[in-house]
Amino acid sequence: MIVLGIETSCDETGVALYNTTPWEEGKPAFQGILGQGLHSQIAMHKDYGGVVPELASRDHIRRVLPLLEQSLAQSGLKLADIDAVAFTQGPGLAGALLVGSAFAKSLAQGLNLPSIGVHHLEGHLLSPLLGQTAPQFPFIALLVSGGHTQLMRVSGIGQYELLGETLDDAAGEAFDKTAKLLGLDYPGGAAISKLAEKGQPGIFDLPKPMLHSGDLDFSFSGLKTAVLNQVKKFAEKKIVDSSEVAQFQADLARSFVDSIVTVLVSKAEKALKQTGCKQLVLAGGVGANLQLRNALNDQAKKNDFEVYYPPLELCTDNGVMIAFAGALRMLAKNNGSTTSGAFDIKPRWDLQSNNLV
Ligand code: KG4
Ligand code: ZN
Repeated sequence: MIVLGIETSCDETGVALYNTTPWEEGKPAFQGILGQGLHSQIAMHKDYGGVVPELASRDHIRRVLPLLEQSLAQSGLKLADIDAVAFTQGPGLAGALLVGSAFAKSLAQGLNLPSIGVHHLEGHLLSPLLGQTAPQFPFIALLVSGGHTQLMRVSGIGQYELLGETLDDAAGEAFDKTAKLLGLDYPGGAAISKLAEKGQPGIFDLPKPMLHSGDLDFSFSGLKTAVLNQVKKFAEKKIVDSSEVAQFQADLARSFVDSIVTVLVSKAEKALKQTGCKQLVLAGGVGANLQLRNALNDQAKKNDFEVYYPPLELCTDNGVMIAFAGALRMLAKNNGSTTSGAFDIKPRWDLQSNNLV
């Protein structure tokens, strides 16, 4: 079965074609990726310091068809070869979701194909299965994106149990807000990570929120406030020497990254212990963070568990993960696929409510 995937939940337009045959034959899942196209709107939103929803929607409209043509050309397939259309139904920006939903449903209806609405986080959760070495069910997923920070127990396709989540800012949001405080462009996650490499550890005593809370929840808004206080303190000193300013920023970025990584790693290990799982999966945009990856790898060696990552280019939003999650759902019974033409999006959507029964 060949499934077309459409992602338009936020600021990336992603389109991909996925063939389920390798998966069904027990071969590595990544062999099913036939073609893909991705356009990031980051350059467009940068000047505004964040995503402007209306601009995002309009840009998705402009990009989605050329990206489909690109994916088809890359795969050597025609529209008539597609068996089902998967699209991100939520959560995300309403207008942006509507573009993907309208496009996917119209195409499905025109081609007389079933369509399936995919939960964006399910796409992220399952994307490590597309790595060179893939985890086996059950595993724990640490899902760290711009909008979510969650620990999930994943027992199978459509079998998700929320173990803990952030009470306020998401990890990616904390990265982006801290980046803004340090004068870096949106979305600053990757830039902070780079800056932190030049910083000295332990210069600033930043909080490690909820490290000892005893549960699997997170909170990152206090960390951002602590960074703001340090920035204000430094500004009061009126230092103009550019190398001193640069060192301050790098040291602060380093302490910030160290704090956030310590909390994420510690809670992920706690989730492994609590559930008896031996496999951890890192997913979502912050999963591209090298300090977090290194820290998880170190702990995995020490404490005898395995960590799996999606291919680096599939950590942030893309169409492949939606095509893949949609494809695996299509193979399951009672998967929620539909041929209805309603553009039913779910800007707010709890992943567990979409579990397969
Ligand atoms: O999963 P994603 O592409 O979009 C959402 O579903 O939210 O995640 C985007 C987030 C942004 O907050 C971005 O700053 C962060 O992922 N990010 C990173 C890195 N690369 C992307 N954060 C830390 N380190 C990185 N290398
Ligand atoms: Zn995402």
